Amino acid sequence: MGTSKNAIRFILDGKLIEIENIDPTRTLLQYLREDIRRVGSKEGCAEGDCGACTVVVGEAVDQRIRFRAVNACIQFLPTMDGKMLFTVESLISSRQQLHPVQQSMVDYHGSQCGFCTPGFIMSMFALYKTDADPDRKAIDDALSGNLCRCTGYRSIIEATQHMGEYPVSADADPIIYRPAGENVEDVSAQEQEMLERLDQLQRKQGLQLKYGDAQYFAPASIDELAGIYQQNPDACILAGGTDVGLWVTKQLRDLPKVIYLGNTAGLNQINETDAGIEIGAAVSLTDAFDYLATEYPELAEMFRRFSSVPVRNAATLVGNIANGSPIGDSMPALIPIGARIKLRQGSKSREIPLEDLYIDYQKNAMQSGEFIESVIVPKRDESMKFRCYKICKRFDQDISAVCAAFALRLDGDVVASIDIAYGGMAAIPKRAAQAEAVLSGNSWNEDTVRQAMNALSKDFSPLTDMRASAAYRRLAAANLLYRFYLETRTQDALTSEAVNVFAVQA
Ligand SMILES: Cc1cc2nc3c(=O)[nH]c(=O)nc-3n(C[C@H](O)[C@H](O)[C@H](O)COP(=O)(O)OP(=O)(O)OC[C@H]3O[C@@H](n4cnc5c(N)ncnc54)[C@H](O)[C@@H]3O)c2cc1C
Ligand code: FES
Ligand code: FES
Repeated sequence: MGTSKNAIRFILDGKLIEIENIDPTRTLLQYLREDIRRVGSKEGCAEGDCGACTVVVGEAVDQRIRFRAVNACIQFLPTMDGKMLFTVESLISSRQQLHPVQQSMVDYHGSQCGFCTPGFIMSMFALYKTDADPDRKAIDDALSGNLCRCTGYRSIIEATQHMGEYPVSADADPIIYRPAGENVEDVSAQEQEMLERLDQLQRKQGLQLKYGDAQYFAPASIDELAGIYQQNPDACILAGGTDVGLWVTKQLRDLPKVIYLGNTAGLNQINETDAGIEIGAAVSLTDAFDYLATEYPELAEMFRRFSSVPVRNAATLVGNIANGSPIGDSMPALIPIGARIKLRQGSKSREIPLEDLYIDYQKNAMQSGEFIESVIVPKRDESMKFRCYKICKRFDQDISAVCAAFALRLDGDVVASIDIAYGGMAAIPKRAAQAEAVLSGNSWNEDTVRQAMNALSKDFSPLTDMRASAAYRRLAAANLLYRFYLETRTQDALTSEAVNVFAVQA
């Protein structure tokens, strides 16, 4: 294919799009609305919260096309290279017939305002393409990233429940594909053609773009990435962009050099080794959480409540770890179960416990030109009792006021070991060393747990901010330890239904 070197290529509605000379931090939404006037996708918040900008990205995975909703407002345009894109306009393949998703929205009165509806339609479209018979939980999850300010969710949920009942025709669907099963024999001729076209777009070598003084690198291999970052330690590493995107759209920061990890072979893998489950730096939260939740079902609720489906589709687990926000959720969850990270700097590799990454607020142990290649989560130890709790104001799509995780091993009724980590309580995700010391080697009973709850005040001096007051955080942190005790005490342990206000939704 005779393409310019300084260009990206992707497929939009079956057409090959090639764009040269791109500002690396131009968002996909800016491109859609301002450059090609596809104004169906709206800008509500420009920070991944409202879903008005939702689009669907198609990629080849295991010889199928995988459709995923993402927030166009925080995705940088060059990251579309090699992918397929669907916007709300893509659904108008024929003026004669609405897409089943659209028809269902009309018939069930789900189309309430022009601002949110396009985003809802695209989240529904992604679900339509991935789940032939979604239940209510799958529907709630799929819509978790779309805010309807008039609170008319009921009719939108009904439309989503019924969208699969409409006949499918080439007039109504930009790509005839319904999830018929696991078997690759289900691939239609049209999907096969799309897969081949996507395959032709994949690069064997890394991509480098220039725009004035700005540079964008998408290395093809881990060695290439290590070399580029060593030579450009001032560059910003970009994984899913759900933190970095906001630096541009909200803080108006310039990022003159960006290194994108999404096309780096080897980083998008989950491998099981003797050391545990190794999750590469480009693996999305959606995939990482799906995998980890089978090993640690106690994490399933936190995973479900971590941001929204479109954010989890774009974001990575390693990005959350590297960002190291004091109110991030995965670090307090993974520290007590002994997660480690693999770091790479040039040709050198090293491994450290996850908790050792965090030094102080926005200060970590990574050296110049060093990056995280993967996170290694130990396989489940059956003797361990483990829980993770997320406290925030909404069920979905809300940042934690406090997140806590506890891993306990008992010898009879004596605490053989206990590992406790909190988010939201300090400048970094942090172990509760004083509380752990009170409990270790002592009986797992109400008295010692109460003493450990008191010891938390020596471990943490939380802040008051818009999410919670310091007093609330202190009380919630202590009560979460008590809740863990109630669920794991040696006699009359309570079920999660008995202690979880959300248990009815599980
Ligand atoms: C609407 C919304 C809701 C959110 N909800 C939650 C939530 O509930 N809980 C929560 O914890 N977070 C939440 N977040 C924050 C964010 O989604 C997570 O931190 C996410 O996991 C970041 O991953 P990413 O791949 O998008 O990282 P990016 O934005 O690409 O990168 C984040 C940071 O990590 C660095 N980085 C990325 N990968 C590497 C690497 N391999 N090596 C070294 N440095 C690296 C980047 O340079 C940057 O500094 C939310 C964000 C949004 C926009
Ligand atoms: S504009 Fe609100 S999520 Fe993108
Ligand atoms: S659909 Fe837009 S506010 Fe409810």
